[in-house]
Amino acid sequence: MDRIYFDNAATTPIFNEILENLHKWGKEYYGNPSSIHSDGQKSRLLLEECRRFIAQVLKCDEEEIIFTSCATESNNTIIKGLAEKFPDKNEIIVSPLEHKSVLNPVRYLARKGYKVRFLPVDRNGIVDLDTLEKWISPKTLLVAVIHGNNETGVIQDIDAISKICKEKECIFFSDTVQSFLKESIPDVDFLSVSGHKIHAPKGIGFLKRNKDIDIEPLIHGGGQEFGLRSGTENILYVKALKEAVNIWIDNKEKFLNHLKELKKTFIDLLHQELPGEEVVSEKVKTLPHIVSVIFEDIDAQTMIMALNSRGISVSSGSACSSGTPKPSHVLLSYGYSPEESLRTVRFSFSIFNRKEELEKTIETIKNLKKDFKLLF
Ligand SMILES: Cc1ncc(COP(=O)(O)O)c(C=O)c1O
Repeated sequence: MDRIYFDNAATTPIFNEILENLHKWGKEYYGNPSSIHSDGQKSRLLLEECRRFIAQVLKCDEEEIIFTSCATESNNTIIKGLAEKFPDKNEIIVSPLEHKSVLNPVRYLARKGYKVRFLPVDRNGIVDLDTLEKWISPKTLLVAVIHGNNETGVIQDIDAISKICKEKECIFFSDTVQSFLKESIPDVDFLSVSGHKIHAPKGIGFLKRNKDIDIEPLIHGGGQEFGLRSGTENILYVKALKEAVNIWIDNKEKFLNHLKELKKTFIDLLHQELPGEEVVSEKVKTLPHIVSVIFEDIDAQTMIMALNSRGISVSSGSACSSGTPKPSHVLLSYGYSPEESLRTVRFSFSIFNRKEELEKTIETIKNLKKDFKLLF
């Protein structure tokens, strides 16, 4: 029997339509987009067509889309690139809910002398906007608040944050890796997207910038991507990313309804069959593909390994740090104890999952719990 894959916040399988065409596109578009001959120009045309398409989806100018290798690169480019350009501004306001690819560049700047302030968060994982308003000063380099959290799915009121930042003339950056195509695109100065979270291959992403705000590139070289990301463009994966976005746009309502239905069914089944378990942030708006569950009596590592051996893939904490049994910084910031955090498992769905898989998973957990009761 096929495995059940509920770790789609970590990464998603590539759309078949893309996999089947990679070979063909690779053979056709081998020219370097910077070469002036026909082979190069053919690739250039494709690259710019992909950029135009993505810019239309984001309702921004083409030159505001910069292709990168992943969201980690996008996030580093934005944060360090701003710091280099605005050396007089030495304060950063950030939510404690960020992915490590935001937290660690910020920590790097803290080591260089930046004053970093972490916004308070309530028990549901919503950042405090009054504090944000109070903290922004002429010294603030940027405000960074993730749109949809990768562990709990909690969605922040990015429009309200954006309004505050605009009024205070402060740069606002939001990591939209998990929310892209699942929520409307927020009006922010900078955002980041990763291909492999939306059924494109790993190794491609982009950042959207406000073209009126200068940033220093992370990578210096041939000056590709408007001088902001040197290195020959990965035209094959840019095309794959564009096609993944295209498939999403064409099927958006169907995909979103399917995800919402999966999530609702999972939570209903969980409450019905396993009433002792807590769904994190159930009362606030969350992304349609992520559910975090605090198990009452089994730690997350044990649950993950037990489910794995029964053919079900799930994870805990951020995917990029899985394997490290450290309490999640996200749940700690909500006010959960380290012990509660270590009992939290993330289930994340994709459009390829089916209702029967949810039923099988809940049944498996029920049986597991019975087995554990016998053992201990
Ligand atoms: C919210 C968020 N930001 C950034 C990243 C990093 O993305 P990438 O793997 O493309 O570097 C991830 C990946 O887990 C994520 O979930």
